[in-house]
Amino acid sequence: MQGKPDNCTIIIFGASSDLAARKLFPSLYELAMWGNLPQDYRIIGVGRAPLSHAEFRHLINEKMADLLPESMLDASSFASFVERVFYVRVDLAEPNSYDQLRQEIMAVAGRSENCKNLLFYLATPPSLAPIIIRNLQHADLGEKEVTEHGWRKIVVEKPYGRNLQSARELNAVIGEVFSEKRVFRIDHYLGKETVQNIMVFRFSNGIFEPLWNRQHIANVSITIAEDFGIRDRGSFYEEAGLLRDIMQNHALQLLAAVAMEPPVDLSADAVRDEKAKLLRSIRLFTSESVGQAVVFGQYEGYRSEKNVAPDSTVETFAAIKFFIDNWRWKDVPFFVKAGKNLASTVTEIVITFKCPPQNYFGPAESCSYTANQVILQIQPEETIAIKFGAKRPGEAVITDPVYMRFDYKTSFTEAGLTPYHRLLLDAMAGEQMNFIRQDSVEYAWAIIDSIRDAVGTPSPDSYPIHSHGPDSVERIYG
Ligand code: BG6
Repeated sequence: MQGKPDNCTIIIFGASSDLAARKLFPSLYELAMWGNLPQDYRIIGVGRAPLSHAEFRHLINEKMADLLPESMLDASSFASFVERVFYVRVDLAEPNSYDQLRQEIMAVAGRSENCKNLLFYLATPPSLAPIIIRNLQHADLGEKEVTEHGWRKIVVEKPYGRNLQSARELNAVIGEVFSEKRVFRIDHYLGKETVQNIMVFRFSNGIFEPLWNRQHIANVSITIAEDFGIRDRGSFYEEAGLLRDIMQNHALQLLAAVAMEPPVDLSADAVRDEKAKLLRSIRLFTSESVGQAVVFGQYEGYRSEKNVAPDSTVETFAAIKFFIDNWRWKDVPFFVKAGKNLASTVTEIVITFKCPPQNYFGPAESCSYTANQVILQIQPEETIAIKFGAKRPGEAVITDPVYMRFDYKTSFTEAGLTPYHRLLLDAMAGEQMNFIRQDSVEYAWAIIDSIRDAVGTPSPDSYPIHSHGPDSVERIYG
């Protein structure tokens, strides 16, 4: 994003949500402190709780004081930020309540002629999204009614629906009220520096791309591991499970970034065309294929977490072998693994190249597992490594795996923006490249639905906390 976005009013539904408290308000405050927000802006929190502006300001003040680093806690900056924050109580399911919201928005925005651009942000559970959008339309707050007074845009948090059908319904409702170029479906992974760098790494260098295909690559493995459990999100997890929480979005987006074709240019739609095309090429699962390709796990103790059913069959781990039926990737397995309460917290992509035709230095099949890899670590380290075999010094010819490594920390001094900083700015500026388009969302759900349908009633394998997941995961590598 270049320059400052237009002046606007940001209206956050789910103002008391964990997301708003932990990510949205602190990010907006930091952006304000750094001078990245528009010259003039207003923020309106929308929620069910009966709070005055002052009470809401006090609440976010307290939360931010807990979360932000000491260096950011400046009393006068706090004060000037919160005086632009307002609160409106709305019964989200009640259309008439939105007339009141409209009046409040116009009153708040009207204090500055310039804040009539409206950015709606839905930090609410997925089931509420269609209701809120319909009610915005009812109160003439949709984009389609607009207006010489300014733009209107909507940001929708993941999970976007809970299956293909609900995502299509939600897309249909949104499409009646906002045009696609005003819709910003967030997957915060797309705001990560290291995820954005995948495309740069692949397409700004002539070294890797010629090898980036089925002729040279044996397999690709993507891991999103976390060493903590579901925390206090029992109700959410019982509804979502790991497939909806992480596979449908973060994991498939990483897969798309690694496997997509080069875009025609760097416009948002050219890039999103390629991602959509890739997701569409992923082979769907059937009851025949799913047994060898999908493993579900549940960590020991999950059923005793708060708001979790004692006989829950919800998965907190999944390992899936995907195939992409296209010219570049046919028959190359993509092993994607994600889970809660695993041994460590790490997100990485490992591209394993085929062995040379003749392996003089060890057993024929050994090269891939010890060397011959490109490793993109997305987090916590932000590195790219090439792992290859080198001769150990000495008389005998023995190969050892060694690394050539790039690290963001040591190569650059600039501080990166966090995903929410970046994506909030992009949404205000109308830059859509790092938001998920309608077609991609639906292709991704079609894949997840095919797994759910093929698995039927899941019976996840149990795994110990801080392990590598259930032993049965080996099945997918066979
Ligand atoms: C969220 C998921 O979208 O992403 C969480 O709901 C997960 O379950 C989180 O922990 C991971 O994000 P990050 O950026 O902390 O790796």
